[in-house]
Amino acid sequence: QKHLLGISHLNPVEITELLDRAEAMVDISRQPRKAKHSLKGRTQINLFFENSTRTQSSFEIAGKRLGADVLNMAVQTSSVKKGETLIDTAATLNAMQPDVIVVRHAASGAVELLSQKVACSVINAGDGTHEHPTQALLDALTIRRNKGRLNGLTVAICGDIANSRVARSNLLLLGAMNARTRVVAPKNMLPTGVEHMAAEVFTDMEEGLKGADVVMMLRLQHERASGKMIPSVREFYHFYGLDERKLAFANDDAIVMHPGPMNRGVEIAPTIADGPRSVITEQVEMGVAVRMAVLEALLANGEAS
Ligand code: CP
Repeated sequence: QKHLLGISHLNPVEITELLDRAEAMVDISRQPRKAKHSLKGRTQINLFFENSTRTQSSFEIAGKRLGADVLNMAVQTSSVKKGETLIDTAATLNAMQPDVIVVRHAASGAVELLSQKVACSVINAGDGTHEHPTQALLDALTIRRNKGRLNGLTVAICGDIANSRVARSNLLLLGAMNARTRVVAPKNMLPTGVEHMAAEVFTDMEEGLKGADVVMMLRLQHERASGKMIPSVREFYHFYGLDERKLAFANDDAIVMHPGPMNRGVEIAPTIADGPRSVITEQVEMGVAVRMAVLEALLANGEAS
């Protein structure tokens, strides 16, 4: 493939190949001295129109570990602030002959649109509420390393599902890999058409967590919420925040995930986030390996195909 725009464009064989490639990158991702040079002479531009800590920095580290020249476009100080459009920005960057542009944008579909306007590969680093494919891949790698498989696992994805591109990409990936998926949320945080999704739907946290192998908490996305928060943050934590009492409903060996950034005391108790069942730090670590794998898969074999 030339681009990675979403999990919806990948089949189970391609997902498995990327996870296997990422697994083989884990050692290298941890040790700069073992860096590979498969992207030597290639240029990677990171173009983030929305804030990011994990995704942008791990894409930068991933590109550098593979020997690419990496440029982080400072959107806040770019001509975007003078009114330059997404398409004109893309055309300008395209004229500098990059090999890959990694894009995050607040509008669903913006990354796909940009991919149609440039000659190079494009990777979706999160577009609106649509998809965040490398997050789903790093989540899958983390689950596979802890549970040995994806097939047949029960994964409960909890919280602000409607606004979450992470949930959407995870549901697509986990469904493709034959995991059993659940969404757990108050009614107003479930997406329209949830009944057509290949996931069991729960509005009660205890019911939704019963028998879960993986509990994936999501960030409450105030910036995408329209109007007043209902329930209030306090009510949300009471009914849906993951604490010791609610986690006891999941399987004894269930792991706890969160894509970050976390609102501690809102969707997750600090004791759980930092506790023995949390794999949140490992998720961040796997982000570098997965992004190395994606960059190499798209670029390493001569021209992107
Ligand atoms: N999980 C995630 O996308 O984090 P950032 O917003 O920090 O990149």
